Amino acid sequence: MTNFNVANSHFDIGTLLKNHRDGYALDRPFYTHPAVFEEEFKQIFSRQWQYVDHINRIPNKGDYFLFNIAGEQIIVIRDEGDTVYAHFNVCRHRGSRVCLEEAGSTKRLTCPYHAWSYHIDGTLSAARAMPADFDPSQHSLRSCQVRLFEGMIFINLAPADAEHVPDFDEITDNLRPWIERAELRHTKIIDHQTYSSKVNWKIAVENYFECYHCIVSHPELCKVQLHTLRDAHGTPKGRQTFAEHNAEWQREAESLGHKTGSEQWGWGLPDAQNYRAQAHYAERMLINHDLEGAYEKLEGGSATAATKLLGRYAADDKGQVDWGIMPSVFLYTSCTSTVIFRITPISPLLTEMSQTWLVHEDAVEGIDYDTKGITWIDEVTMEQDEEIVVNNQAGVNSRYYEPGPLAELEKTILQVHDDYLRLMKYGRGQ
Ligand code: FES
Ligand SMILES: [Fe+2]
Repeated sequence: MTNFNVANSHFDIGTLLKNHRDGYALDRPFYTHPAVFEEEFKQIFSRQWQYVDHINRIPNKGDYFLFNIAGEQIIVIRDEGDTVYAHFNVCRHRGSRVCLEEAGSTKRLTCPYHAWSYHIDGTLSAARAMPADFDPSQHSLRSCQVRLFEGMIFINLAPADAEHVPDFDEITDNLRPWIERAELRHTKIIDHQTYSSKVNWKIAVENYFECYHCIVSHPELCKVQLHTLRDAHGTPKGRQTFAEHNAEWQREAESLGHKTGSEQWGWGLPDAQNYRAQAHYAERMLINHDLEGAYEKLEGGSATAATKLLGRYAADDKGQVDWGIMPSVFLYTSCTSTVIFRITPISPLLTEMSQTWLVHEDAVEGIDYDTKGITWIDEVTMEQDEEIVVNNQAGVNSRYYEPGPLAELEKTILQVHDDYLRLMKYGRGQ
């Protein structure tokens, strides 16, 4: 049942969750209301693992950057070796922001207010003129849990002893066989773009998960990515053509020892287990057997693939791993490059998106890759997506918006909804 005019009125989240109609878009408050966003903070953002960035963004000891999520700001800072810390940017004296620069390098984190100074690990190193009984060891910066996976930094806002935190090792154990061959820890960042989008984070995730819109909005992508025959066209012929090409590619890829097929985890579990899991997935499939030919047909840009193989790939089989960890990070890893797409909620109507492109750490620009050639199609697609998601949000903000039915090609959104609704309901004891 649609509840008009609800954005500023009192309503009950429990009823809203209960009233969701399977196979339909979500009701307006899910995409707009601060109370829903607060509940999401409790049930999802502060409990699940969040992808932050690739460690190569902070190559040296003392390098840091600020990460924003749902009203919190976190200093992500590198120490010796691969040790990374993530501290809440809140001084333990009277709460000032400690770090004011978006990114930089430092030996100490010194608060600009009264100059309390913290070591990289967050412990207090100096606090001027405090009473004799002041105990610095009780005033370390509050920290998040940090884990690295193939050079990718993940944080968890929950304390280490919190209940119901998804087991990070279980997630990475599942995903490792799918992407270990790419050795993403031995890569370099060739481009990194971050932008704020005036949408609710779920509008962005839903859009990422369906390709029903690809034919309408992404002509370039559809020329390059053969899976759009299956995921965007919606015709039996399209599905069959992709299945045939993919089956042929599978034989070739497997003869090289490369993985094919798909797996997903965290969906379809009983609610209690679902709450402690964090859904993730991997599919390795054909990009396009004639990738160069497809690139040549593109107008208005020059897309090219990198030529230096990532990690332990035996040859470029023109396949890619489409993988991700809900609801924060989604990647495409080919044999020669990776694009990482991050979606981070900032407020009910603001979401930060980032795209990062990686190639082999020894690849040389102009010889092994051309940055623009690799990023061009993703950038074009990202701009197209930005326009459609902003339009989507604007319409959803209307009092006259009413959730409509999903198409068969959008059934992936059902998974997004299923995961989301069950986390929210279980966390609230519903
Ligand atoms: S608030 Fe940071 S030193 Fe006072
Ligand atoms: Fe899109």
